Amino acid sequence: MPQTDTILVIGSSGQIGTELVMNLREQFGSSHVVASDLKDAAPEVMESGPFETLDVLDRQRLHEIISKYKVTQVYLLAALLSATAEQNPMFAWKLNMESLFHVLELAREGHIKKIYWPSSIAVFGLTTPRDNTPQFTSIEPSTIYGISKQAGERWCEWYYKKYGVDTRSLRYPGLIGWKSAPGGGTTDYAVHIFHEALKNNQYTSFLSENTMLPMMYMPDAIRATLEIMDAPAEQIRIRGGYNLAGMSFSPAEIAAEIRKHRPDFKIDYAPDFRQQIADSWPRSIDDSEARNHWNWKPEFDLDKMTSDMLINLSKKLTVKL
Ligand code: NAD
Ligand code: SER
Repeated sequence: MPQTDTILVIGSSGQIGTELVMNLREQFGSSHVVASDLKDAAPEVMESGPFETLDVLDRQRLHEIISKYKVTQVYLLAALLSATAEQNPMFAWKLNMESLFHVLELAREGHIKKIYWPSSIAVFGLTTPRDNTPQFTSIEPSTIYGISKQAGERWCEWYYKKYGVDTRSLRYPGLIGWKSAPGGGTTDYAVHIFHEALKNNQYTSFLSENTMLPMMYMPDAIRATLEIMDAPAEQIRIRGGYNLAGMSFSPAEIAAEIRKHRPDFKIDYAPDFRQQIADSWPRSIDDSEARNHWNWKPEFDLDKMTSDMLINLSKKLTVKL
């Protein structure tokens, strides 16, 4: 990437943005990475480079920021996630789609050169094979969030084919990290469980014991994001959203893994409305296309992720492991 490129991250105060901005600033230089969100970001983001308050639904303000910093790449992370979206479907549709249209249109008009827009395993639904879900398969999402991701994928591909807009996208699994809190998804339990294990040695899961879902540790997710954005354009043969896999586990399995470090840890189960969402998603993902097209390979499995989470989160929370 030439030195003159400048990146705008929209939704930089969320679970992914907090970590992504810091990684991008390390790679491209702080002044070349503008963070933006409705709300202030974590102190390290606020203090290490430019930040702009932005409601992405305000297209004019978005355009002003892009012009002010001569932005050439946008990472659009602002969205309502699966659980929150089911509770506010009309607003979720508006935010998840209009934000994408604003960015795609600014690219079509020549203001931005490259877009990163995350999709999700939520594009899959009840008619999708649930084990080793392939890239190309039946896609009939049953959540508003999933429908918005499916539509977004189609729009990204359409803008690429019609106007040559360089769009790149990953279908993230549930993401787990210790640096930032998750923002209203069905996979959030896999982050909460670590906090509760360290603070109270007990966790009540909102998903049932054997609900297996695809998951990924944040360092892998950030690396995948940077790698797909860095890959030569000719290697990106899917413009909708690439399947991406890290690991798969159920609440019972992650609890057993945590117990290797904290033998007294206890879990019980009180499934709520999120159970139905989880039951419509795959158990595991086949990410052969990402591996073959741009050499994707995850580093973290359940064992390695759990150790790393517990070590880092216990330090952050100042709790003895
Ligand atoms: P998050 O909820 O933690 O963060 C989203 C951020 O967007 C928040 O800081 C919020 O304040 C901001 N935002 C909301 N409305 C805005 C607006 N109008 N203008 C500007 N900013 C606004 O979400 P996340 O987990 O960081 O997810 C980022 C993206 O990745 C989303 O598109 C999400 O669907 C996708 N994704 C996340 C996961 C995951 O497990 N975290 C998995 C699959 C896909
Ligand atoms: N982790 C996200 C969610 O649960 C999946 O996109 O909503």
